[in-house]
Amino acid sequence: MNLPNAKEARKRTDNKVDVYYDKYQIPASIKNVGKGKKYLLLTYGCQMNVHDSENIAGIMEEMGYQRTETMEDSNIIIINTCAIRENAHNKVIGILGRIKKLKETKKDLITIVGGCMPQEEKIALMFEEKYKWIDIVLGTHNIYELPLLLEKTMQDRKQNIEVYSIEGDIIESLPAKRDSQYKAWVNIQYGCDKFCSYCIVPYTRGKQRSRLAKDILEEVRNLKEQGYQEVTLLGQNVNAYGKDLNDGYGMADLLRDTANTGIARIRFVTSHPWDFTDEMIDVIAQNKNIMPYIHLPIQSGSNNILKRMNRLYTVEEYKKLYYKLKDKIPGVSITTDIIVGFPNETEEDFEETIKVYEELKYDLAYTFIYSKREGTPASVMPDKVSQEEKEERLQRLNQVVNKYALESNLKYVDKVVPVLIEGPSDKNDKVMGYTETMKLVNIKASRENIGKIKNVRITEAKTWSLEGVLEDD
Ligand code: SAH
Ligand code: SF4
Ligand code: F3S
Repeated sequence: MNLPNAKEARKRTDNKVDVYYDKYQIPASIKNVGKGKKYLLLTYGCQMNVHDSENIAGIMEEMGYQRTETMEDSNIIIINTCAIRENAHNKVIGILGRIKKLKETKKDLITIVGGCMPQEEKIALMFEEKYKWIDIVLGTHNIYELPLLLEKTMQDRKQNIEVYSIEGDIIESLPAKRDSQYKAWVNIQYGCDKFCSYCIVPYTRGKQRSRLAKDILEEVRNLKEQGYQEVTLLGQNVNAYGKDLNDGYGMADLLRDTANTGIARIRFVTSHPWDFTDEMIDVIAQNKNIMPYIHLPIQSGSNNILKRMNRLYTVEEYKKLYYKLKDKIPGVSITTDIIVGFPNETEEDFEETIKVYEELKYDLAYTFIYSKREGTPASVMPDKVSQEEKEERLQRLNQVVNKYALESNLKYVDKVVPVLIEGPSDKNDKVMGYTETMKLVNIKASRENIGKIKNVRITEAKTWSLEGVLEDD
């Protein structure tokens, strides 16, 4: 058993990050253990977790397991958890209640909990003390150990908790069963060293460490060969890519080299405003296959709050960058993240956020009520603002967000834009996809178009999506 440790999770050293190409192995004894059996995989949280789940699915299928979407059908249930906010946590606790019930009647069901929640010391302890029926608990650093843990569990039928509070290495060569055949997530950086005062990620994911460019580019080339049209480069602060490698090769270089692979579409998330260089902006502007879409979280429009959030920029600096992006990258769409109700956020602070939003008129924003995460500096800041007040602020902000979302979508009506058609739409006999600027479009077209980039005439704009028809080739 290995339990996480909150003090260790906070530590950052200059220790070299090792890259492993051979850590993942399936023991011979369980090579085909999954033949005829099924697994259910539930994923919460950010794109990084979504991609980790693709790796988990890859591992399960290498052992012969088949995926199912129903609990009752499954021999193994895996939950890949998120700890970013209380409600992400609560969703998992809720689902665990259902699984416990099922396990009472299905004794040979194997249950696995992974992801960010077990990286929290208190949560791992809770699983040990109160959730003895969970067979395997693992963290974000040791997905590659899943086959070993499974083998152990099948032998001893005891609870196995293996969660490490380490800065982390880089594990290459994990298999991936990707959700899409057309667009793929590609990790370029793990962890985070920004330590925004409200955020749990630096504790659950370890220190910021960049994957080697040669490994990233090889993955992109392989994806292109397999027919993928789009890659999204993933990291918590992608702009800081390469800084830890100290070889002068940074995000601008990586973007340029990725563009040179010739893959049709390149995206990247998330960009912290702090590390956005002019060179990066030029590379984005100059390469047609780097999409003109930037997710640039502002978090708050008040300098007082930004400072207490430890965000490292002022509203003025942020705005300067925003206008530079708009100016240099033609047609760029910019989205953001905003937290309302940070400890002791005043009505004036909040109004400054609204004011900045009214000025910048984002394409879209993901808005959240501040959620206290134990162990973070913000969790001990005094907070006199009531939950009711915070909810009211969120609603007021969302009205502004929706207003500008519709306004920005309306600009597309009657225009013809390229869309990567990804799959059937929720709506009858339509297909769906995204514009270069990340606008969701529902299109009247046959399924034969799935997987292709097509010119689409936009016929209608809604707050969250566009409607369109295929334009003749
Ligand atoms: N690395 C990214 C953000 C990753 S987390 C960045 O810095 O831009 C995604 C979003 O969740 C954050 O941008 C923030 O808006 C929100 N978030 C993080 N911690 C939160 C908390 N404790 N309460 C509410 N929202 C939070
Ligand atoms: Fe969290 Fe800040 Fe790191 Fe983003 S940059 S993951 S908000 S600590
Ligand atoms: Fe959640 Fe972990 Fe991502 S806390 S948002 S799954 S990095």
